[in-house]
Amino acid sequence: MKKEQLLSLFIEHKNEWLSGNELADKLSISRTMIWKIIRNLKASGHQIESKKNSGYKYLGSNSFNRLLIQKHLNVPFEIETFNEIDSTNTYAKKILGQSKLKNPTIIVADKQTAGYGRRGRDFYSPKDTGIYMTLILPIKDNEIFDGGMLTTMTAVAVVNGLKISYPDVDFKLKWVNDIYVNNKKVAGILTESVMNVELMHPLALIIGIGINLNTKDFPDNMDRPVGSIGDQKVDKNKVAADIINEFIQLYPNYLDGKFIEEYRQLSMLIGKKVKIQTHRGLISGKVTDFDQHGRLILFDGNKHQAIMTGEVIKVNF
Ligand code: BTN
Repeated sequence: MKKEQLLSLFIEHKNEWLSGNELADKLSISRTMIWKIIRNLKASGHQIESKKNSGYKYLGSNSFNRLLIQKHLNVPFEIETFNEIDSTNTYAKKILGQSKLKNPTIIVADKQTAGYGRRGRDFYSPKDTGIYMTLILPIKDNEIFDGGMLTTMTAVAVVNGLKISYPDVDFKLKWVNDIYVNNKKVAGILTESVMNVELMHPLALIIGIGINLNTKDFPDNMDRPVGSIGDQKVDKNKVAADIINEFIQLYPNYLDGKFIEEYRQLSMLIGKKVKIQTHRGLISGKVTDFDQHGRLILFDGNKHQAIMTGEVIKVNF
């Protein structure tokens, strides 16, 4: 497709002037056609400067784009991008229901109209101010996996990926899957699975990652302090790719739990008194550690216990 070819040329020559004639020759189409495609690219969020006698200069994009993400990825990945979608996790479940995916796939959107988080909460996902992304990881029939550890590992990968564009920001992790900056939640992770009902074995894991890059004006009904990373201008295609690269680096050996040391360093809970809502009720105590399986170790004054899942509802009360 000519649009994709032109975009590839622009990406290869980012920030360079390319004349209309040169582009028309390379793509074997007319200059008017080049101009029409450029108008179309601009309408979908690409920033292209034009100047008489110089031609066109590609500056980047405010929107997600497959080629722009791929350009920064260390290994090839299948990627689908959307300007708007209900939820990337919902879409992932839909396509898994229709066909058997063999390869890991990334779904990413500029806006979600029905983004959701843990416990059915809404995840506010306005246009162009965040990263709303789902990784689909197909699971082989005899593969051993651990959804809990994978979520914990993803939290470390997200922080490491964000650190590349935001080296001065002090990211913290709140067990299990929340990322905080200045005591406000700026990102969350939701891992789900799609089952093969006949085999009673998951077909795939779906890891949804939502990040508020510079989102403002959150709805009033948020039940915890939420915020965004900051006003600094970043290339969100690169940030998404950086996160995926970090994920790919940790994923092959995540079951050995070596990443937990990094998780500990990033945790905002170690040494703090917390109240945790678990399926067995409310418990409180002091967080002393996280074990090799990502379980939170809580000391209630008498004994230590390892907690697998739950929600920290109060810190330092
Ligand atoms: C949480 O904080 O409880 C998890 C939030 C997860 C939000 C992401 S955004 C991309 C993906 N699509 C969704 O609808 N949810 C996840």
